[in-house]
Amino acid sequence: MSGDATEHLVFITGGSSGIGLAMIETLPYANARVFNLSRRPAPGSEHVALDLSDPDSWPRVETCFREALAGFSGDRATLVHSAGVLTPIRFAGEGEPEAEVRNVLLNSASPQAIGHAWLRALAARDPEPRSTLLFIGSGASSAPYSGWSGYCAGKAATDHWTRTVGAELDHRGRPARVLCVAPGIVQTAMQAEIRETPERDFPEVARFIELHEGGALRTPKEVAGELWALLERDVPNGSVLDLRDG
Ligand SMILES: NC(=O)c1ccc[n+]([C@@H]2O[C@H](COP(=O)([O-])OP(=O)(O)OC[C@H]3O[C@@H](n4cnc5c(N)ncnc54)[C@H](OP(=O)(O)O)[C@@H]3O)[C@@H](O)[C@H]2O)c1
Repeated sequence: MSGDATEHLVFITGGSSGIGLAMIETLPYANARVFNLSRRPAPGSEHVALDLSDPDSWPRVETCFREALAGFSGDRATLVHSAGVLTPIRFAGEGEPEAEVRNVLLNSASPQAIGHAWLRALAARDPEPRSTLLFIGSGASSAPYSGWSGYCAGKAATDHWTRTVGAELDHRGRPARVLCVAPGIVQTAMQAEIRETPERDFPEVARFIELHEGGALRTPKEVAGELWALLERDVPNGSVLDLRDG
């Protein structure tokens, strides 16, 4: 496909719901081609139907990047890796084994596998476009939450991959940037799942119900707007940030 009029390529994993969907709905760029990589489709985007907890999907992600970049004459590309999962919210070793492994693959492995694919695909395009890879991080990367071990570990791994790869990209002088930004507590399906979890499996559930009832949750669109604004700023490569820090 010719990308003649397209100035910006935007890829969102997990664009079908919550923060990813709000990123599509609040896209600030005209003349952008937008892809949603997740199992369900999203309005306003081209759907690449993938289960990202299945390693067989990762080469297909790279093919999507390469094909879109090949027909692209603009100079800016953005990947937002928003796909993530808490399921199973259970203490370690007490969940359904297959779901525990899917959690590890999606939260810990897919950010890195997809990050490598992204950087390879960009390097293969001459000239390499300016790009940002934005991971949706979490305060759970540094604070332990009983019941969320796979999620906490995946977010911690992604934070440190971001720091390391940001330094590598600067070392190479590439026009590519990687950032990881925690959004705070956001009113999405993931938060609904938390509030429905028995206290036995998630001892902090009462606090999350209180936060919800007290109106403390941010809206996905509010968060998405702040994330897009952040991407326009000259934030150092490899930064790991929290929107709550302003
Ligand atoms: N909500 C919060 O308070 C909060 C706080 C900190 C960080 N975050 C992070 O924000 C990101 C988005 O979460 P959300 O709150 O917006 O949750 P959400 O509404 O549940 O959305 C999760 C997204 O991830 C996608 N996803 C899940 N499993 C997938 C799989 N196997 N393959 C492909 N896509 C998959 C889903 O798409 P499909 O189901 O269509 O596949 C969906 O679009 C996550 O990384 C989460 O860790 C959220």
